[in-house]
Amino acid sequence: MAVEEFEPRVVAFMCNWCTYAGADNAGVARLEWPANILPIRVMCSGRVSPEMVLRTFREGADGVLVMGCHIGDCHYSSGNHRTAKRIPLLRNLLGYAGISPERLQLEWVSAAEGPRFAQVTKRFVTKIRELGPLSEKVVT
Ligand code: FES
Repeated sequence: MAVEEFEPRVVAFMCNWCTYAGADNAGVARLEWPANILPIRVMCSGRVSPEMVLRTFREGADGVLVMGCHIGDCHYSSGNHRTAKRIPLLRNLLGYAGISPERLQLEWVSAAEGPRFAQVTKRFVTKIRELGPLSEKVVT
């Protein structure tokens, strides 16, 4: 596949209370965000386990975004604190598996941050497009 034809498959895990509502906010404001994003609603970013992320890559995602409430705003108090610790460790692990850590990103987006949601998703899809398809780079 030629690089210019490459359309990244990006899975975005979004917490129900902040980021998912932020995506709604972006939609209501008619802000554009990439169609490459496959949103998956979870109740809290802390629900996104390492197994879920690794499985998402194994099932064909070129990039994974994990998005939740800003620190201090998690509806389950400390769920996003776990996420903040977990994702950097997982990024390191990806490197050992031959997957660029840049393919996994953590972002905080509140319900009021529709423009930020659009900006973050566009920037991430651009980065994944530059990295190219994952399936051609990982030897299993
Ligand atoms: Fe949003 Fe926990 S409820 S990150």
